[in-house]
Amino acid sequence: MAHIALATEADDPARSCRSVKVWDPIVRVFHWTVAGGVIANLTFLRHQETPHIYVGYAVVTALAIRLMWGVVGRRHARFSSFIPGPSGLWRYFRAMAARREPRYIGHNPAGAVMIVVLMVLLATVGTTGWMMGLDLFWGVGWVETLHEVAANILIGAVALHIFGAIFESVRHRENLPLAMITGYKRAPTGTDIDHAPTAD
Ligand code: HEM
Ligand code: HEM
Repeated sequence: MAHIALATEADDPARSCRSVKVWDPIVRVFHWTVAGGVIANLTFLRHQETPHIYVGYAVVTALAIRLMWGVVGRRHARFSSFIPGPSGLWRYFRAMAARREPRYIGHNPAGAVMIVVLMVLLATVGTTGWMMGLDLFWGVGWVETLHEVAANILIGAVALHIFGAIFESVRHRENLPLAMITGYKRAPTGTDIDHAPTAD
């Protein structure tokens, strides 16, 4: 069951003006390392093999740390606090279609699914990139193809992810990209959800 904040808090302007720390430094450094590294490797470092590999390894290292942090880290960083079950996701999509989706203090269910997709694509691109340098897979066609295909799918996923971040920022009148820099979001009010989604 969702823990919904008390309705009386919604009417308290002093409380609604306050902000809460949501994204810890590991989440924020991870995000902007990955965003910068991926954009660089897809554009001006695409054919610069040595820096491409260094930047790629930086992205992979950030991902590995983030995956561990998703298990042992702080509240909103934990996967168990934001990865929804199928019915939780379905409910969120139905609420979106009716334009009454609640505001989440952590990742919302749709954003969370996209985050999982992005992480799987990053792991695929990183693993195939690493494999390309091994004697065992040197010049093996499918490894290079998978690296390039996963990178191209990543472009589409990132575009949707950015669209989603802007869309939800407008819907809830809150600058979510800025929150990913500062770590702070508006404190929860009446209908906001600040809980782990039910894994149903
Ligand atoms: C290659 C580019 C990018 C990748 C691979 C990427 C990936 C991710 C990932 C994995 C997360 C989850 C963070 C976590 O919990 O650790 C995330 C969150 C987020 N990203 Fe990105 N991102 C990219 C670019 C951007 C850009 C350019 C923006 C700004 C418009 C942005 C805005 C956000 C926001 C606002 C969140 C938090 C969403 C929420 O509030 O639930 N991302 N991103
Ligand atoms: C941030 C994640 C990464 C992204 C988005 C990415 C993206 C790409 C793309 C799009 C290409 C195709 C270039 C082309 O032929 O048009 C490529 C090639 C390549 N990538 Fe990555 N890459 C990443 C990480 C890595 C890593 C971690 C390594 C190695 C450790 C690596 C090694 C290579 C190599 C060696 C090539 C050249 C392959 C060739 O020219 O046939 N990449 N990468």
